[in-house]
Amino acid sequence: MALSFLFSLILLSQTVPLISSSSPPSLLKPGSSLSVENKHDLLISPNGLFTAGFYSVGENAYCFSVWYTKLLSDGSHTIVWMANRDVPVNGKRSKLSLLKTGNLVLRDADQPLPIWTTTVRDSTESAQLKMNNSGNLYLQSQLDGQIIWQSFASPTNTLLPYQLLTKDTLLVSSRSSTNHSSGFYKLFFDNDNVIRLVYDGPQVTGVYWPSPELRAWESGRSTYGHRRIASMDFSGHFISSDGLFFNTSDVGDQPVRRLTVDTDGNFRAYSLDELRGVWRVTWQAISETCRLHGSCGENATCLYDPGIGRRCSCLPNYKMINHTDWSYGCEPEFKPTLCGNGEDNFLQLPHFDFYGYDAKYLPNTTLNACKQECANICNCKGFQFKYDRTQGFFLCYPKFKLLNGIISVNINGSMYLKLPKSISISSKNNKVVEGFSLTCSGKPTIQLDRAYDKNPKEESLKYLMLFTYVFGAFEIICIIYFFYRTRNPSMTTHGYLQAATGFKRFSYAELKKASNNFSNEIGRGGGGIVYKGALSDNRVAAIKHLKEFSNNEGAELLAEISTLGRLNHMNLIEMWGYCAERKHSLLVYEYMENGSLAQNLHSKKLDWGKRFDIAVGTAKGLSYLHEECLEWVLHCDVKPHNILLDSNYKPKVADFGLSKLLDRDGIRNSQFTRARGTRGYMAPEWLFVNLPITSKVDVFSYGVVMLEMITGRSPTDNANQSGGSVRRLDSWVTAVMAAADGKNDWIEEIIDSTIDGKYDKNRMEILVTVALLCCNEDKDARPTMSQVVDMLLHVEEDNSE
Ligand SMILES: *[C@@H]1O[C@H](CO)[C@@H](O)[C@H](O)[C@H]1NC(C)=O
Ligand SMILES: *[C@@H]1O[C@H](CO)[C@@H](O)[C@H](O)[C@H]1NC(C)=O
Ligand SMILES: *[C@@H]1O[C@H](CO)[C@@H](O)[C@H](O)[C@H]1NC(C)=O
Ligand SMILES: *[C@@H]1O[C@H](CO)[C@@H](O)[C@H](O)[C@H]1NC(C)=O
Ligand SMILES: *[C@@H]1O[C@H](CO)[C@@H](O)[C@H](O)[C@H]1NC(C)=O
Ligand SMILES: *[C@@H]1O[C@H](CO)[C@@H](O)[C@H](O)[C@H]1NC(C)=O
Ligand SMILES: *[C@@H]1O[C@H](CO)[C@@H](O)[C@H](O)[C@H]1NC(C)=O
Repeated sequence: MALSFLFSLILLSQTVPLISSSSPPSLLKPGSSLSVENKHDLLISPNGLFTAGFYSVGENAYCFSVWYTKLLSDGSHTIVWMANRDVPVNGKRSKLSLLKTGNLVLRDADQPLPIWTTTVRDSTESAQLKMNNSGNLYLQSQLDGQIIWQSFASPTNTLLPYQLLTKDTLLVSSRSSTNHSSGFYKLFFDNDNVIRLVYDGPQVTGVYWPSPELRAWESGRSTYGHRRIASMDFSGHFISSDGLFFNTSDVGDQPVRRLTVDTDGNFRAYSLDELRGVWRVTWQAISETCRLHGSCGENATCLYDPGIGRRCSCLPNYKMINHTDWSYGCEPEFKPTLCGNGEDNFLQLPHFDFYGYDAKYLPNTTLNACKQECANICNCKGFQFKYDRTQGFFLCYPKFKLLNGIISVNINGSMYLKLPKSISISSKNNKVVEGFSLTCSGKPTIQLDRAYDKNPKEESLKYLMLFTYVFGAFEIICIIYFFYRTRNPSMTTHGYLQAATGFKRFSYAELKKASNNFSNEIGRGGGGIVYKGALSDNRVAAIKHLKEFSNNEGAELLAEISTLGRLNHMNLIEMWGYCAERKHSLLVYEYMENGSLAQNLHSKKLDWGKRFDIAVGTAKGLSYLHEECLEWVLHCDVKPHNILLDSNYKPKVADFGLSKLLDRDGIRNSQFTRARGTRGYMAPEWLFVNLPITSKVDVFSYGVVMLEMITGRSPTDNANQSGGSVRRLDSWVTAVMAAADGKNDWIEEIIDSTIDGKYDKNRMEILVTVALLCCNEDKDARPTMSQVVDMLLHVEEDNSE
């Protein structure tokens, strides 16, 4: 009985290829066409990776496109090519036809003229349209095998492996993540044979990569590559005739890759993470995304905010011109002054910079001289003023246009904005107007809409198809299962991880030996127990034995590990490897000599100078965690136990066990279902279901940790606190400050009296102030981690100078 059932199963599954192959055609013959209304009118590559057909780009708007067949985890498809991106056709009676003459014609029923054609002729009249395994859609003559047209020769915004960028082709970004029509960013071989990124917007145009400040050879390019040809192979090596070579971060055979000019103007290499159904960035042309030109338009600046990504803002006293589109920029709300009447004020904007459009360059000058210079130049809109450390003097750049604005902690100088005297330069009404955010990458967000009129005959076919697909899938699962069973069970995931992260994979036996049979326990936490061990190469390591995982959690762990592997910062704990064998999951980290901040809170070895350095280092580590553009990580459990100290008491943030990768959408409609973190350090928004969880939860915890480090009082131990009532640490500090009433001795009162030694009053006051800001109930009132770094570093500078 069971046997015959199995037999019929096998029989049925054998018929699957017959039925399914007859349905979506794999090629288009001369004289036939693909219709927008028939959802089976698709061309699929033999390996199934790519699909060509009509793709819905809006309500009743379709483009003939090539996309990856596989759905991403967010339910979207990634488009790699479009025939008619700027003129979508309508959803009824539009057709792509292959004429007998070999011409491919896209017609919209409402339009007399074709929307798009290949304008080629095939004298043999035998050409067929096919899609190959690389994603190339091509017309090939059946008589002489000649390829008479191919989509690879006219890319849109994406270059696939082995697709050539030549002197005749260019990549043009999409307008936005939801609008696939041609945008403003272009990648092409310039007249001097160098590949460049150019912003070609409605008002201005300019090269922004390679850096226009450098000459071609200074950025490693050669102008002598007359062939003008570039491409990437399946392993992730990119080679160009202008000397641009790069390897993606996951070099190796991983066939699903692409290179795309994203909607934000960056040129990125992606690899598909099949496990998670997301694209991973494996290389990008410009790492500081606010440096991308044109994103915010004229009279506006770009700020990278970890909570929302890149954000545009108008300059003070300017307003946005088009509220839906930042590329139009901002216009002044005031009347510009008459020329050279000396009736100008200058508003200082620290850490602002505007690239290009200098009216002059004045080295070795003073602020007053620079102000005078700008006041005298009629069209001077302001000037950049900065100190040049190497030459030992100030530089002045009066500007006649304010474009490519950026705000960043890394910019030491200031921008001085020219304003008429009638506007007072008090800081209050000169707040930078908050702007809209820009999304990070060009991830398509439209879902494929295949609505079509139902037809009873097709309905029954549909059920048969569904039936056969289910058995087909069942069979594939069985094959994969047996395949994995019969192979070394860990081989494949091993290879995958190695490529993705580059760590070492340890065997359980190896780690057992290294840790002397898990004998030297050094810590214990929610995620598992940590042991000290010595690896075979004599490195001392911390080995974390995680609690047992179910299979599902194991996958999560792998994802977690590959996230960790890509993070690399001096204030984050470094991970050396992992072990995943059946029930055992272990992580191997660098060993930190001085244990955690929790163990050292009351240690006299930790003087005030070291404590301040810990505050800065921890903030830098967290700020890095928050600010990587496409890999957005929250820690969610910042506490003294997770801040480890090396032999010099330099801090490293550890334990991302609770952190969760969130993409930008995930932040907005947060998917956290239960509170994470540790009592006492948890931000109030964890308790409210309807409040979104953002990086500001880490900022809150950081604030609490800083107060604990300064006062020596535990936020969880209420008995310690005045009055014995349940009071938050920050309320207590605020109360002490208020009682001191502006007098300077409050700092005496709050600092941990068991730690003796000198402290810098300025620094300590700033640290307390910043910590209190971080503890604000209102998450929007808390600074970002990078602002914290900025504020703490600023006092450092003030002191040393
Ligand atoms: C697909 O077509 C391109 C361009 O003709 C070619 O380079 C590539 O080798 C083809 N790929 C396959 C798998 O046939
Ligand atoms: C896409 O952008 C172009 C250019 O701004 C515009 O003309 C077109 O209407 C937009 N399409 C959609 C679907 O929003
Ligand atoms: C890229 O990797 C290849 C070997 O896979 C190596 O020969 C080459 O030097 C690497 N190129 C760069 C720019 O790192
Ligand atoms: C703003 O920009 C959008 C999209 O580019 C455009 O359709 C619209 O007409 C613009 N509005 C104004 C007032 O210029
Ligand atoms: C930017 O501001 C200046 C005045 O400072 C103004 O002349 C210019 O038109 C503004 N740009 C735009 C795009 O409105
Ligand atoms: C800068 O200017 C001052 C005063 O004009 C002069 O004394 C000094 O030598 C200059 N420095 C350099 C490096 O040129
Ligand atoms: C800014 O100043 C700091 C020290 O004050 C220095 O380390 C840093 O390199 C400077 N940054 C730039 C971009 O000059």
